[in-house]
Amino acid sequence: MRLLLGFGAIAMALFGQAAQPLPYSHKTHLAQGLECNSCHSNPDPGDHMTFPAAAKCMACHATVAKDRPAIQKLAEYAKSKEPIPWVRVYSVAAAVYWSHRSHLESGLKCEDCHGPVAEMDVITKVKDVTTMQGCVECHRQKHAETGCEFCHEGK
Ligand code: HEC
Ligand code: HEC
Ligand code: HEC
Ligand code: HEC
Ligand code: HEC
Repeated sequence: MRLLLGFGAIAMALFGQAAQPLPYSHKTHLAQGLECNSCHSNPDPGDHMTFPAAAKCMACHATVAKDRPAIQKLAEYAKSKEPIPWVRVYSVAAAVYWSHRSHLESGLKCEDCHGPVAEMDVITKVKDVTTMQGCVECHRQKHAETGCEFCHEGK
């Protein structure tokens, strides 16, 4: 048992939410008319989505709300060129075969797995899509494969 828990770990334990380094809200930003893929691209081979560089945020925040403490912190990240250390909300065990692109190509939408992101101030897991049970349940519903070798062993 660890005696010293960071604030993030405590928030995670109490609320099931990650305490992020900046109070970024999808709700606020999607109301600006931004599309998911303007911040989350899916580069080859398509397994992962990316997170936006702080420089991209500064396209607006060089002027928008620039006197607020959170935006000053954002400007420091942009200046340092270090990636913002976002706390991950979803993650799949490394040994399991997973690809965003093949799921998107099958016609699934972001919201099918991540819930109504455009209404969220803080991203929370609303559906189990990262455990074996969560994966297999949807595969059954959609008549996708459920054979063990489909998700394990490098196919
Ligand atoms: C202006 C940029 C921006 C737009 C537009 C945007 N996002 Fe994000 N997204 C972020 C940032 C920054 C994070 C990391 C902070 C967080 O988790 O809230 C993130 C995190 C996420 C995560 C959590 C990933 C993880 O495992 O930690 C999901 C899921 C997500 N976004 C989905 C979406 C969807 C779906 C849309 C469109 C409806 C969208 N995002 C639009 C910037 C954006
Ligand atoms: C299209 C322009 C635009 C982009 C791009 C953008 N933002 Fe924003 N952001 C806004 C607007 C507008 C607000 C609301 C400002 C207000 O409350 O008056 C805002 C508010 C915020 C706030 C809350 C500030 C506060 O303390 O009230 C944070 C934090 C933030 N943005 C972070 C980000 C991050 C991180 C990114 C990049 C992933 C980003 N923004 C990209 C327009 C943008
Ligand atoms: C079939 C379910 C599913 C769909 C559809 C889906 N995601 Fe994900 N998403 C996941 C899972 C599972 C993870 C964890 C992946 C990992 O750990 O490698 C994840 C992780 C992420 C991450 C964190 C970075 C990464 O790739 O690990 C972002 C950002 C994200 N998703 C955004 C999106 C956006 C935007 C869309 C729509 C364009 C989308 N997702 C569609 C299930 C899904
Ligand atoms: C919301 C529904 C849904 C969830 C959740 C989901 N899948 Fe899928 N998965 C599908 C569908 C639909 C297909 C496409 C089947 C086809 O095209 O025949 C698919 C295809 C796949 C494929 C084959 C495509 C490829 O990449 O080669 C793999 C592997 C896979 N899923 C693994 C996973 C894993 C691992 C998880 C959990 C981390 C998961 N899936 C979660 C619906 C889902
Ligand atoms: C649709 C994808 C998918 C299929 C099909 C699948 N698994 Fe998994 N499996 C996973 C994921 C994702 C994990 C990681 C779970 C976690 O980290 O919580 C996992 C984890 C495991 C583990 C590690 C122990 C655990 O529970 O974390 C074993 C053992 C396992 N699977 C066996 C099997 C067997 C046997 C089959 C066939 C009957 C199978 N899996 C079919 C996705 C799948």
